Amino acid sequence: MQSEQLQARLRAVELGKEVVGVVGLGYVGIPVAVAFARYFPVIAYDINPKRVEELARGIDPTKSVTNEDLQAVYARIRWTTNPEFLRQCSVILVTVPTPVTPERLPDLSALLQATQTVGQNLQKDRQPVIVYESTVYPGCTHDVLIPRLEEVSHLKACEDFHVGYSPERLNPGDPYHRFETITKVVSACDSNTRTFLRHLYGKVIDAPIHEAPSVEVAEAAKVLENTQRDLNIALINEMTMICYRLGINIYDVLDAAATKWNFHRYVPGLVGGHCVGVDPYYLAYRAYELGYTPSVILAGRRVNEDMPYFCVWRIGRTLLERWGRPLQKARILVCGVTFKENINDTRNSLAFTMIRALSEMGATIDAMDPFVARPPQNLPIHDWYTFPEVPQHAYDVVVITVAHEPFRQWGLSFFAQRIQRDGGLLLDMKGIYRTEARSLDTTVHYETL
Ligand SMILES: NC(=O)c1ccc[n+]([C@@H]2O[C@H](COP(=O)([O-])OP(=O)(O)OC[C@H]3O[C@@H](n4cnc5c(N)ncnc54)[C@H](O)[C@@H]3O)[C@@H](O)[C@H]2O)c1
Repeated sequence: MQSEQLQARLRAVELGKEVVGVVGLGYVGIPVAVAFARYFPVIAYDINPKRVEELARGIDPTKSVTNEDLQAVYARIRWTTNPEFLRQCSVILVTVPTPVTPERLPDLSALLQATQTVGQNLQKDRQPVIVYESTVYPGCTHDVLIPRLEEVSHLKACEDFHVGYSPERLNPGDPYHRFETITKVVSACDSNTRTFLRHLYGKVIDAPIHEAPSVEVAEAAKVLENTQRDLNIALINEMTMICYRLGINIYDVLDAAATKWNFHRYVPGLVGGHCVGVDPYYLAYRAYELGYTPSVILAGRRVNEDMPYFCVWRIGRTLLERWGRPLQKARILVCGVTFKENINDTRNSLAFTMIRALSEMGATIDAMDPFVARPPQNLPIHDWYTFPEVPQHAYDVVVITVAHEPFRQWGLSFFAQRIQRDGGLLLDMKGIYRTEARSLDTTVHYETL
């Protein structure tokens, strides 16, 4: 971006005159669109007509923003499935999904399709700035996305349009780490565009804006953040498997270890979702491309992907050893099928992997989740319960997979009452009832992971 263009664009930012497009209205795109609409006119585009229709009616199916948030910006957002509206935009933020294929390779299909759509609607006279917020591997923007934009638009990057990368860190279900309150990393193909993005995001974000020196640095920072989290949890998951064999409790070990000044406390559990369990594969893919075999990164993935099978083995073993009951005859209630607490997102949930594995061993599975209205498709779930339904069956095993707030409120007795009279296992994977469990009826055998 030329210096004189930059000055004009900074004035436009101050006056709220940039027209901002958001492409992909999911867990990220909806809060981003709403935040920008407080200061700028927004064109919010998605290929899914049902999603757009719901948003236009003031309903956010992802529950990332409240109905009041949507109402407040009603007149400033055009929700649309018509990509031609993107022609009005001087800034386009791309927030489409970047999952992995079944082979654990980056699946860029949505990102490429979105890039095609954006490229077809770039208007040179607006000097549009395209910012990718989707998570990608380092090098993807320069090697894959910019060439595709140039090819489709017949325009030249850095002359006719400008490109930035700003990884998204918002944390659905977390009232503290929201789009507006998280430090934002911005990067761009040239320093003037980066300055422009610092001002643009600075208008809508209350937290600091960090300028990364290059797009590749920002891309790498994002995948590193989530890979670090994945590895930290993998270490504790592996320690959990060792502690189980030692006959000691991982939470007791964590309580003791956490008294050291430089110990970082993580808890064991199932790592699913769209980010932590996926982004390490993006990094590993790029490492392979560069001729480097990433051993630590993939070791973490392997441990975390094995965790549901460890749980199944533990459940089967406890049932047999304590009550002589085989898994084949067990009726099991799985509480919580989302990939983490207090959201309705079930993508890549390892609770599903556990349910499938238990069912393959012959167990009958019921499941409940206060955040999920309908049972996820293609899962071997016998009976499904959502709030306020209460399972009436008596179970051999109740497994609590996530620390949903309602589970905390209902207390341990709610789940203990669901266990058979002659005994059964209550597996509290997140250890939320450790204190309460001390006064539990002895017919229920309580375990944390
Ligand atoms: N969900 C999170 O917590 C989170 C946090 C940080 C970063 N991210 C990253 O942000 C990106 C978006 O994730 P998400 O969770 O919001 O995804 P999502 O699946 O919730 O939403 C994506 C939306 O994009 C739409 N879409 C797909 N292809 C499209 C296309 N070609 N054109 C227009 N719209 C299209 C879908 O219909 C959907 O509504 C991903 O790269 C993800 O890794 C996600």
